[in-house]
Amino acid sequence: MPEGKPSGGRGARFAGAMDPAAAALNASIHFDRRLLRDDVRGSQAHARMLAAAGLITADDAEAIVTGLSRVAEEIETGKHPLDAALEDIHMNVETRLIQMVGEPGRRLHTARSRNDQVATDLRLYARRAALELVSAIDRARVALCRRARQHAHTIMPGYTHLQRAQVVTLGHHLLAYAEMLDRDRGRLVDAERRAAASPLGSGALAGTSLPIDRAATAADLGFAGPTHNSLDAVSDRDFAAEIAFACALLAVHLSRLGEELVLWSTTEFGFVRLGEGYCSGSSLMPQKRNPDIAELLRGKPGRAIGDVVALLTISKGLALAYNKDLQETQEPLYDAIDTARAALAVLPGLVDTLEFDVARLRAAAGDAALGATDLAEELVRAGMPFRSAHEVVGKLVRRADPRRRREARAPDARGARRRAKRRCPAADRRARACGRRARAGASRGRAARARLRALTSARARCPRRPRAPRAPRLTWVRRCLRSFRS
Ligand code: ARG
Repeated sequence: MPEGKPSGGRGARFAGAMDPAAAALNASIHFDRRLLRDDVRGSQAHARMLAAAGLITADDAEAIVTGLSRVAEEIETGKHPLDAALEDIHMNVETRLIQMVGEPGRRLHTARSRNDQVATDLRLYARRAALELVSAIDRARVALCRRARQHAHTIMPGYTHLQRAQVVTLGHHLLAYAEMLDRDRGRLVDAERRAAASPLGSGALAGTSLPIDRAATAADLGFAGPTHNSLDAVSDRDFAAEIAFACALLAVHLSRLGEELVLWSTTEFGFVRLGEGYCSGSSLMPQKRNPDIAELLRGKPGRAIGDVVALLTISKGLALAYNKDLQETQEPLYDAIDTARAALAVLPGLVDTLEFDVARLRAAAGDAALGATDLAEELVRAGMPFRSAHEVVGKLVRRADPRRRREARAPDARGARRRAKRRCPAADRRARACGRRARAGASRGRAARARLRALTSARARCPRRPRAPRAPRLTWVRRCLRSFRS
């Protein structure tokens, strides 16, 4: 192929251009353009090393290094449009450099392949992104810790199975998320460290016969040193999978916080109000204040987990060394990083503007049953075996259960409804309004009744309601404790 004519990486081996559909499938420029700065950095280090090794002149290196800076600027400002016919960012940058500086540009690719080039660029990108995520995690963690400190003495119910379990403090609860973020941080730091080996100089797969200095380029690019095996280096995307996994697990952690904020901001819980800047309204229902951002924190891991699966699936079963499949590892890596970054970006503000309803949290923590474990431990302290204490307190709680007392007083649901109607006519009006939306899929009406019947028949019959217990005698607790102590 004549010099200067766009040829991607094909050179003169081919007489004609690629089939357009094949070229479109082959091209990666629409996503690897984000490697521009790293590609230029890698090429500049490579050129400096070539000059130091006597493979090009110092003047050529100078022309290449300054030329590459100009190319980056032109592409970034849109002055030079990227060309999909050139396949990827590497060929776009090199081709423009050659147009710009001529002969020296044609020497840049000495002792280098796009295989070690892209592996180097990707590592530079991934390492920087990992460290940026670490900083974002730190900001989020600081916000959580700040609120935890403010609420070190705010009591609330702690849950297991989403049932009130024992009293905890809100500070403790918030710090659980800080712990998760701390582990996420560690994973990213660790992955970044492992990614800090330079593949540059591994060539297409087998290195080069030219006298290059791999340690020099590694040091120039801030790597700890060169990779050890050229076959592995050009085909390894472990670092991408590790970072994507760290992002996915981070997103999973944030999704748990998102879910709790969604739950807690319901009228039913009423533990927290999200700041206005983190809520959306409804286009139909004027009163709505929806926790969209918290919902998205909950939903985002879906993508990040998909990214990890994609990365592992692409890498699975690949024979050594480089295969074009590896180009497909870029987008999932970018997406996982972008997802984690976007989720982390909202966290400090979201957490800072949470308005906790301390009174409501306290009231919920006032549920006497939450003291059951403490009472059992009190008995243990007095010498009772734990299993016996568990039984004693379990019986007490059973007798005191207000729902069972209420059930005892309300023999049938229809009677309860009649009573509720008398007490709250507004609720009845709303129930009727709800009945008017009796379309299929709504909660009332013929279709709903039919659906309920269908579901009922498909389900196991409900067990019979146990007999209502006698009303608890509160003195029983004291008597029991007294008799035990004496
Ligand atoms: N765009 C390619 C990638 O991301 C660059 C390497 C191409 N190498 C090759 N032998 N075709 O993997």
